[in-house]
Amino acid sequence: MLTIQVCVGSSCFLRGSKNVIAEIQKLMDEFQLDDRVLLKGSFCHEKCTDGVTVMVGERLFTGVRPKDVEALFEKEILPAMEGDPECL
Ligand code: FES
Repeated sequence: MLTIQVCVGSSCFLRGSKNVIAEIQKLMDEFQLDDRVLLKGSFCHEKCTDGVTVMVGERLFTGVRPKDVEALFEKEILPAMEGDPECL
């Protein structure tokens, strides 16, 4: 199970973390990943000035915008799942 955490701390929330979550959920639905990816909110990662922060497993990404989510899936999320036998 791959865990994706989107910061919903006040700064990230104001910068649109809700829209990032919606975009991630949309792609999870599209790829039918609901039983292989756990999407949850998290509190501040102390990167508030860098834009919305998203953790994919143990990796932290900053400045994530809804339009970045598709690339994040292609470059990080789908490959991370291929490397984890529990995600297959
Ligand atoms: S509120 Fe998201 S990193 Fe601080």
